Parts: sequence; C-alpha cells; structure tokens
Amino acid sequence: VNEGHGVKGLADLGLETLPKQYIQPPEEQITTSTIVDDDSIPVIDISNWNDPRVGDSICDAAEKWGFFQIVNHGIPSEVLESVKEATRRFFALPAEEKNKHSKENSPTNNVRYGTSFTPKAEKALEWKDFLSLFYVSDDEAAAFWPSACRNEAIDFMKKSEFVIRQLLEALMKRLNVREIDETKESLLMGSKRINLNYYPKCPEPELTVGVGRHSDVSTLTILLQDDIGGLYVKKLDGDAWVHVPPIDGAIVINVGDALQILSNGKYKSVEHRVIASGIKNRISVPIFVNPKPNDIIGPLSEILESGEKPVYKQVLYSDYVKHFFRKAHDGKETVDFAK
Ligand code: SIN
Ligand code: FE2
Repeated sequence: VNEGHGVKGLADLGLETLPKQYIQPPEEQITTSTIVDDDSIPVIDISNWNDPRVGDSICDAAEKWGFFQIVNHGIPSEVLESVKEATRRFFALPAEEKNKHSKENSPTNNVRYGTSFTPKAEKALEWKDFLSLFYVSDDEAAAFWPSACRNEAIDFMKKSEFVIRQLLEALMKRLNVREIDETKESLLMGSKRINLNYYPKCPEPELTVGVGRHSDVSTLTILLQDDIGGLYVKKLDGDAWVHVPPIDGAIVINVGDALQILSNGKYKSVEHRVIASGIKNRISVPIFVNPKPNDIIGPLSEILESGEKPVYKQVLYSDYVKHFFRKAHDGKETVDFAK
C-alpha cells in the first residue's frame, strides 16, 4: 500500500484500520506491559556547573536510570522551536521531494529519508517516518541536506555542543578521567547524527509502536520532543516502564551503548520505546553523539587501572553500528556484540 509515501502517506489516506504489516505481536504492544507512574526520570537544572551537585545528579541519573531531562541548559528556545518547525516543514513536503533523499535516490549515504527502522528485516513495521543526517561538515550539509531543515538542524547541533561537553566532562570525572583530550574527544563525541522523526496520528495505535524496544548505540543522545508524549523508558530494576513527560524547554538525555561499554557498565544504556498516538502527529529530534566510526571502543583504561575486570571487549565502532542496523529493534541485544 502506498509504497514510497511513508507512514505519513498512509495516515493522509485517512485509514480507519491499521494495515496489517504494522500490527505488532502482543508482547510488543504497550498495553501488555507494566507502566508505573509513581516514579519518574530525574529533571536536572544545569544552570550552575560550578555547583558540584549538578555533576553528581547527572552521574547518579546515568547510573540509576540511564535517562534524565535537563532544564536551564542555555540552548536558546528559538533554536529548539526552529528545529521543530523545520521538522514539520520537511515532512509536509510532497512525497517526491522527500524521496529525493531516500536510500535509492540520495547521492550520499549521509542523508537518508526512510520509514520504520529496517523494513526489510522487520516482521512488523513501526509507525514512524524519519530523516537521518550524518554530519560531516557545513559544506557537505550545504550540498546534500534538504534545504527545508538544513540550517535549523545544524544550528541545534552547534548550539548544543557546549552542553554535550559539560555533560561528558561531569560523567568522565566520576570515572577518574580528568580531561577530555583528543583521543577521548574522538571516542566520546567524535561524530554526530541528527534525526528528524515524524509519527503521524495512527488508527488503532494500541496495535502498533512508534519505535520498538531498543537502546541507542550512541555515547549520549540529546532528544528534543514536542508536547505530545509517548516515550517510555524501562526501569533498571524489574520490568516496569515509565513515561518521559514532555516539559516545555527541557531536553531529554540518555546514555547509549557506547558509553555503557566505555564506562565498563557503570553508566546504563537502557531500553526505551515510543507508542503511537491516536490523537495527534508527534515529532522528535534526537542528536546522537557517537565515537568516530573508525574508533575502537572498550572499557576505558582509567577504569581498568584500578584492577576492575573488563565486562566488554574491544570492538570497532562501525562494526558495532552495522550489527545494530542489520535487523529489527529487539531491546538491548546489540550490546552482546561487545561481550
Ligand atoms: C527513539 O528513541 O528512537 C526515538 C525517541 C523519541 O522519538 O522520543
Ligand atoms: Fe532511541
């Protein structure tokens, strides 16, 4: 049905039932899982980096939850509003415009407009369209990124750089890593990818997912969401899920697999997923802060020096990422690749 027009193309047809390719097995439907509302991920005011409690809260949250929200982060609200607006603008383009950036048509692998996650490998599809942009340079972006959203996406990336570095410095300090030198900079924040996600309003939302259970392969993910909600995070103890409530002006931060591996398991990359909405379209904009593709990742030597046994082996980061993208979302299985 409606091949090449994405999930938005399906939603625009005004379907009253969910096409069967999108029906997830019962165990993946959010209604079958335990949702708790007596607990929630920390919300951390990061306005004062000189206050040691800020760094402590960040490290505690990364150990206990793997997820937190930051407020008073200094990224101007106009920057956040503009990138959300640009996301809506891109997905509102005619299908043939968006398809210029599909896997088949884009002249570069660094730009990819697509739908679901790995449609060819999935038994059930996800109710989501996306534009994924791997950042190489401003010139490369000027040549290949869609003009509907290019400047806004770059601006969001650049304006969040200070916060990313501060977060990583705080997280490294607890691991006895004193400074982010060139090697560490490459491992922790050597490459970046920004995704623009679009989850159209869905008929029979309870039968499908926006994004299935997965953990990110990043070191950190910086996520901007709109006011619709629907992101759920798995608690580390037990198997309950908690909602990540939209907070105006806040940014969601989560630890990815690469940081879990570098920290030898101290910081947790946790499973999360997004439900589909039957009421409204939702957008989100994650920045994935990653090692460089050619970096070898493994537990940091500063941690092993104290005699701690490595929980993970050394792996080439591009191999790790390839492993993640070769099949459907399936929770936290990818990290076993580094065991
Ligand atoms: C994701 O984790 O893949 C998406 C998160 C979101 O849209 O909130
Ligand atoms: Fe994710």
